[in-house]
Amino acid sequence: MALLFPTIGCQLAFASLAIPMTATTRTPLPLAGRTALVTGAGSGFGRAISQRFAQDGARVGLAELSTEAAEESRRLIEADGGEALVIPTDVTDYAAMQAAVQAVTDRWGRLDIMVNNAGITIREAFLDLTVDAFDKVMAANLTGVFHGVRAAGLRMKEQGGGVIINMSSIRANVGGFIHTSYCASKGGVRMLTKAAAVELGPYGVRVCAIGPGVAETPLTESLLANQGALDDQLARVPMGRLGQPEDISEVAAFLASDDAAYVSGATLYVDGGEMTH
Ligand SMILES: NC(=O)c1ccc[n+]([C@@H]2O[C@H](COP(=O)([O-])OP(=O)(O)OC[C@H]3O[C@@H](n4cnc5c(N)ncnc54)[C@H](O)[C@@H]3O)[C@@H](O)[C@H]2O)c1
Repeated sequence: MALLFPTIGCQLAFASLAIPMTATTRTPLPLAGRTALVTGAGSGFGRAISQRFAQDGARVGLAELSTEAAEESRRLIEADGGEALVIPTDVTDYAAMQAAVQAVTDRWGRLDIMVNNAGITIREAFLDLTVDAFDKVMAANLTGVFHGVRAAGLRMKEQGGGVIINMSSIRANVGGFIHTSYCASKGGVRMLTKAAAVELGPYGVRVCAIGPGVAETPLTESLLANQGALDDQLARVPMGRLGQPEDISEVAAFLASDDAAYVSGATLYVDGGEMTH
């Protein structure tokens, strides 16, 4: 160290030289040449993330239960000059997840970014919640994420790196009425993200999560149609508005990019400040 930087002044001079170099070498399309797979890509956050990744230069596999919804996402991406592939997928089926990862690598040679976004909710009071309903939410929201992390993790280990982003929620941290199965699944995603980050880090794979607050998507449409529930929700958010899919896709684009090269294991909450009080 002493030989490389004999004086503090020299270190400062070196550091000030390094800053413009980083700025000038950054590509205008941060995900150019990369490939991504997004589950639940036909609606809400998944569609916005897929569109944003394509705008940032990535080619995007659209893994969806609804082929019709995924086709609409593909049409939107292609109309914007991007490239996308529809992959009919049920994330609760591990073989289907493996096939989705394979479809992306068959088409584009590698998988750089995996977004485990697909999820559902069943709103039921705790004592009315059936075992079947609980299992259904866990299968989509938690086991589905495990399937995606495992299938993508194996591929990324083989190719020497990648980024995995899981969709959690503020409900990973705070409980809520009629949300037992959802809270349990999202808390599981938060911890699965940490555990996977520990084990996949040595292979050059970052594993992160996003924890959105309440946002306007088809998932929350019926809840927010109730004026009382909407008013209650807005009163809880310091920023005084609901989240939008673009609030989430911006953060996903950051986590997927090299700007987040040292971010792993973290859940980034995007909730307008709701969890601060
Ligand atoms: N909207 C919110 O307020 C909010 C807040 C926090 C977290 N989230 C989470 O964000 C994610 C996306 O939510 P959204 O609001 O965009 O929902 P959405 O209902 O608009 O979209 C979810 C998509 O996932 C697909 N999907 C559902 N089950 C699937 C399965 N088994 N296999 C493949 N695809 C499946 C659906 O077909 C749908 O297109 C979910 O994990 C959700 O829990 C949403």
